[in-house]
Amino acid sequence: MLVGGLARLGLRAGPSPRDVPQNGATPPAAVPKGVDMPITINGQAVPIPVDVRTSLLDLLREQLHLSGTKKGCNQGACGACTVLVDGERILSCLALAAQYEGRSVVSIEGLTPDGELHPLQRAFINHDGYQCGYCTPGQICSAIGMADELRRGVPSAVTADLAATTMALTGDELRERMSGNLCRCGAHNGIVAAIAETFARTPAMAEAAE
Ligand code: FES
Ligand code: FES
Repeated sequence: MLVGGLARLGLRAGPSPRDVPQNGATPPAAVPKGVDMPITINGQAVPIPVDVRTSLLDLLREQLHLSGTKKGCNQGACGACTVLVDGERILSCLALAAQYEGRSVVSIEGLTPDGELHPLQRAFINHDGYQCGYCTPGQICSAIGMADELRRGVPSAVTADLAATTMALTGDELRERMSGNLCRCGAHNGIVAAIAETFARTPAMAEAAE
């Protein structure tokens, strides 16, 4: 109860009497208590924040200074904070960092470890898929996660055949699957064109770019 209360306050309990050697022996190396498995962010191991109330978004932006991930609504409504966790897209404003211990997070900065633009980033430039750019990192991470969902046969609300093993990214599918990512500048036509061009593998997907 006490430990739980301290954890909620972002504090950790000190050693119990049982942890203190009784015979003058060298004490064992301190074993940190609480949540200790690191989280991997863009390939780097990062300790879980001591304050377990820290959102993944705040860990990225405020503690790691990875400001590419944007805070829009901070309540799960706009998609600006989208990142990838083990390849799946999530809203980092609704996620506690401590939930992701041992998992691998990729933010927009992690898409280009060698400094080269991701093909989807190039397509956003070519298709004018942004104006202010505030929604863009979330759009790009979300689209990459979305393309992977399609590859895995995950249906959307507009998928007609739920038993289909292959799915085409039609214009309707693309718009539905990206509907959680809002653009306040109204750059949606360019965004759709960039995503369709990047992930075009079927005539239906090419159709979405028109
Ligand atoms: S900031 Fe996370 S959904 Fe808007
Ligand atoms: S480019 Fe401004 S919010 Fe999308």
